[in-house]
Amino acid sequence: MEKINAVITGVGGYVPDYILDNEEMSHIVDTSDEWIMERIGVKTRHILKPEQGSGTSYLMTRAVSQLLEKTQVTPESVEVVICATTTPDYHFPSTASLVIGKLGLTKAFGFDMEAACAGFLFAMETGANMLRSGQYKRIIVCGGDHMSSMTNYQDRNTCPIFGDGAACVMMEATTEEVGLMDSYLRVDGEGYENLHMAAGGSAKMPSHETVDAREHYVYQEGRTVFKHAVTKMADAVETILKRNQLTGEEIDWLIPHQANVRIENAVARRLNIEEKNIMINVDHMANTSGGTLPLCLWEYEPQLKKGDKLVFTAFGAGFSWGANYMIWGYDGEKEAAKSPAQFYKEGTMTRQEWYDLRKQHKD
Ligand code: UT7
Repeated sequence: MEKINAVITGVGGYVPDYILDNEEMSHIVDTSDEWIMERIGVKTRHILKPEQGSGTSYLMTRAVSQLLEKTQVTPESVEVVICATTTPDYHFPSTASLVIGKLGLTKAFGFDMEAACAGFLFAMETGANMLRSGQYKRIIVCGGDHMSSMTNYQDRNTCPIFGDGAACVMMEATTEEVGLMDSYLRVDGEGYENLHMAAGGSAKMPSHETVDAREHYVYQEGRTVFKHAVTKMADAVETILKRNQLTGEEIDWLIPHQANVRIENAVARRLNIEEKNIMINVDHMANTSGGTLPLCLWEYEPQLKKGDKLVFTAFGAGFSWGANYMIWGYDGEKEAAKSPAQFYKEGTMTRQEWYDLRKQHKD
């Protein structure tokens, strides 16, 4: 029997209309555009306002809807939906069940995967193995978070970091030598103290006290997490490059978790990867947790070419981290051009404006 690979055949994405910029942020907490740009590299973030929609399922449904339109596959042909998210609409039912129901994916089953900011890495590996098993042909892997739902807008240490958004990929079985080639994934269980939400789960149920103590928001010890993020992401990429007899120079695209532009630059420096080969959108999308990696693919799709070598890496709560090595399977420019209006129309900025803004940051 021929070896089955799992390849991405399409990308969809969605970010909400409302843009919270650093000027507005500086009226919410004691901060400034200068501090945020220097320490994090975020200029704007998209925020899902209640009047527009609610829940991560809203973001993911919009993303998957675009994916179905771009790829022109019938909803009935999708067999599985995996949603990597830390901000599910509810404890239960799953966000995946809401996406499946809203979009009429009548032959699919699905489930959520919670691995914080590393969720999309883990979900891609899980989805790829389902395809490699030969039992499934077509699945959708989503990554995204409604981070503003658990961001404490009284805490200047965390609130400038996060934004809302989701994106998704179609993964299909192929016998071509393309797709997800290797994954190095890790969890150490040592990160609770440094990065968590204290209450709301079964260990500390919601109560008046937990609400008063503001324990339903992200708590992060930034400096510690920063150090672990740089070391562990760089180590994971080094491991996967070595395992696949590759050097940093041979990688067409490094897709790092978008948490802080200083983290991304530090990882790339350690790996000898040039800035032009790194996908970066933290400046205008901030940290969307499970959404950062697929949102990068969504935005950079026109630049991707069949045969490109991609390495994804992420780090998050748990601690959870890792790297995926992928050979890209199609000419992105052609695919993105099929429905270009779909790509831009929801945002208040066009792609060109995004690029101009990013250039401005560098200067
Ligand atoms: O996605 C999951 C993984 N998460 C990450 O990878 C995030 C990792 N951490 C980080 O990105 C950075 O640590 C932060 C962006 C969270 C913080 O940057 P930092 O350079 O580590 O700053 P710091 O926490 O060491 O704070 C430095 C100073 C402090 O003042 P003092 O004590 O030196 O007087 C803070 O109070 O900056 C102050 N500060 C701020 N000042 C203005 C903290 N937040 C702000 C702010 N505006 N928003």
